[in-house]
Amino acid sequence: MIDTVLQTVDASRQKIVDGLSEFLRIPSVSTKPEHKPDMVRCAQWLAGKLKAIGLTAEVMPTGGHPAVLATNQHKAGRPTVLFYGHYDVQPPEPLEQWVSKPFEPTIRNGAIYARGAVDDKGQVWAHVEAIAAWQKHGGLPINLVMLIEGEEEIGSDNLERFVKANTTKLKADIALISDTNQFDRGIPAITYGLRGLVYSEVIITGADHDTHSGLYGGAIPNPANILCELLATLHDDQGRVNVAGFYDDVVPLTPEERAAWAKLPLDEKQYFKDLNLTGGMGEAGYTTMERACGRPTCDINGLTSGYQGHGAKTIIPSTASAKVSMRLVPNQDPAKIVENFEKVMRDRCPKPVKIEFKRHGQSAAVMAPRDGKAMRLASEAVKVGFGKEPTLIRGGGSIPVVGLIKSTLGIDTLLVGFGLPDDRVHSPNEKFDLDELHAGARTAAALYAKLAGLKS
Ligand code: BES
Ligand code: MN
Ligand code: MN
Repeated sequence: MIDTVLQTVDASRQKIVDGLSEFLRIPSVSTKPEHKPDMVRCAQWLAGKLKAIGLTAEVMPTGGHPAVLATNQHKAGRPTVLFYGHYDVQPPEPLEQWVSKPFEPTIRNGAIYARGAVDDKGQVWAHVEAIAAWQKHGGLPINLVMLIEGEEEIGSDNLERFVKANTTKLKADIALISDTNQFDRGIPAITYGLRGLVYSEVIITGADHDTHSGLYGGAIPNPANILCELLATLHDDQGRVNVAGFYDDVVPLTPEERAAWAKLPLDEKQYFKDLNLTGGMGEAGYTTMERACGRPTCDINGLTSGYQGHGAKTIIPSTASAKVSMRLVPNQDPAKIVENFEKVMRDRCPKPVKIEFKRHGQSAAVMAPRDGKAMRLASEAVKVGFGKEPTLIRGGGSIPVVGLIKSTLGIDTLLVGFGLPDDRVHSPNEKFDLDELHAGARTAAALYAKLAGLKS
């Protein structure tokens, strides 16, 4: 049957692109309140498409943006696969850097360009089309539950309650996510670990209004100066994060892992050249791969203070703020890390200003088993879809639901991603190569065939 299904997928190249384009036209930016109606519209659109291919689909309230929950007709004795994806996307800004508009999907150079092209609408769509192909030939060989949420890009804060309230509906033998990338073009991969994330916005307030820097400068605290000094304390001269206890619980990279990663053909020159950089920077004693996937970090993601308009304006700003995130590795405790971060910032902050924090999401790092039946079956599916055995990698990004699935449903997640490292996720000109989209749809079709054998 899989051959027939693959033939259907192969014959659907244009249909896949057309469907994905419709999906990409809905500006489902979860972080912006003005897009709330688009979020609902996107969830409804998706549920409609899933119904059209014969699944039972519902748009479910979560306390935040709605989630789409869908199932096929379950049959006793078959393994149940929980597919997770997200229909929300990152903000498209800076808009002027897009070659074509972010919500007007455009094909060029053999790729589809749009916000969400690969993260994660395109990868979700590869599965939807694969499922559609199975449905045309008598239905999927597994029991399927699909959870496609709208708050992944803002930390999945409402998902924990949702998952806990729906454990019966979500009960499965294995979870499956396509929201990561391949190692490189021609080197497909399965991801066995992800970093966690904590995010804290630091807000410093001085005088209750911006003041003349000639009249007050030198005599009153400048929140911008103070914030810069505080942020400058966050790393030592070895590139290590200077927050008390930060490394206490870190599981070191094993010699085996380091050896395996060293064998991966990372073209460092190209890696930096793609970014128009002459070289990298990071924690002393670690390779670029290790820094990007296996070590914890602390980074400023946004920085705001004072006059930002044209020309000069002489003021002491009243406030300054920074959005700071920390990527975590096993076994760092997100709650403890963010507490410690805020404590050292508070302790290091001069008294004449006020310091406050706003947290945005918390998720722990995850690791999945690298051996076992599910991993072997998934590798076989990748071989079918991409024509090559996958290599095993750890991803530097985070997907909060993976930890949640393990802790509340007690199952592991297969992270089988179709993207490429140069897809510019979260950046202007995000894209998904059409060949990878297609190989992804083939892999998805094969995954459902292979995972049918999970329990036998
Ligand atoms: N799909 C990414 C995560 C990802 C990308 C993992 C590539 C591995 C390789 C996901 O949509 C994402 O961006 N997650 C956020 C999570 C955060 C908002 C909690 C992230 O990693 O910044
Ligand atoms: Mn994603
Ligand atoms: Mn993302």
